[in-house]
Amino acid sequence: MALEGWMRRFNMSLTGLRIGMAESLADSNGLSIVTPFFGMADTIALGAVVSVAACRGPIIPYSAGRVDATVPGPATVPEPQQPLASHIESFRQHGFNQTEMIALVACGHTFGGVRQADFPLIVTDNTIDVDTFDTTPAFDNTIVSQYLQSTTQNVLVVGPNVTTQSDLWIFSSDENVTMQNLLSPDTFATTCTDLIQRMVNTVPNGVNLTDPIAEPFDYVVSEPFFSYQDSALFMTTSLQVPIYLSQSHEMGLKITTGTHS
Ligand code: HEM
Repeated sequence: MALEGWMRRFNMSLTGLRIGMAESLADSNGLSIVTPFFGMADTIALGAVVSVAACRGPIIPYSAGRVDATVPGPATVPEPQQPLASHIESFRQHGFNQTEMIALVACGHTFGGVRQADFPLIVTDNTIDVDTFDTTPAFDNTIVSQYLQSTTQNVLVVGPNVTTQSDLWIFSSDENVTMQNLLSPDTFATTCTDLIQRMVNTVPNGVNLTDPIAEPFDYVVSEPFFSYQDSALFMTTSLQVPIYLSQSHEMGLKITTGTHS
């Protein structure tokens, strides 16, 4: 189940199972990243870490070095109609106990939601594209507080189809003890950091990941370009530096510089 939630996007598109996710994928350039140094699995893991940070979540230390699979994995990720016992077993097989399963699902379902096109029997209102798990787009513990306050809109908890309320079964499977603990924003952040890092770092025996990169770089040097003109070799490159305008706004400053010899 490594990269579980985020793998949904890729899994579905490759097998053609989930139309809504496949359409979203078509809008993203994620799969067009090609580099001889960085495989697809590392790119997906990086996407997970960047997604969390971009939604104002914690910085999850990132390690590289995954080896891309050459054959398909299981046909599907866990499905919401499967019984609780099968979810517990499937998480156990990937090294997560029941408490960790509850927390990891809460961490994953802090953003995104259920697509009407993919699950029309869960999202029955066909004017809705994505029925979000909670009311905030941020990576925060609103998913937890709204569940405990019974104000949740999460269709995997209160949806019209009682045979697909997997979040309800999972969250309440220890009498809400884990969810109560996650009511603390700090506990939510540290727990999610630990569990998501473990999830994306689940690799087969024999695969060694690099030491974690704990902090994002403050700058990016990119787009090197060499040209030869009038007996001189020119090199241009660009330096991108993030500028923080305020807590919620961030933009990049890009400087292009050149030299010749
Ligand atoms: C028993 C385990 C789980 C079940 C049954 C489950 C179920 C689902 C379902 C039905 C969807 C909607 C997919 C769609 O509309 O096509 C979904 C979305 C999602 N899940 Fe889970 N999930 C589980 C565990 C996880 C975990 C462990 C994570 C990550 C840590 C995760 C992260 C996500 C994310 C981010 C989305 C939203 C995707 C988007 O909006 O693009 N899920 N999940």
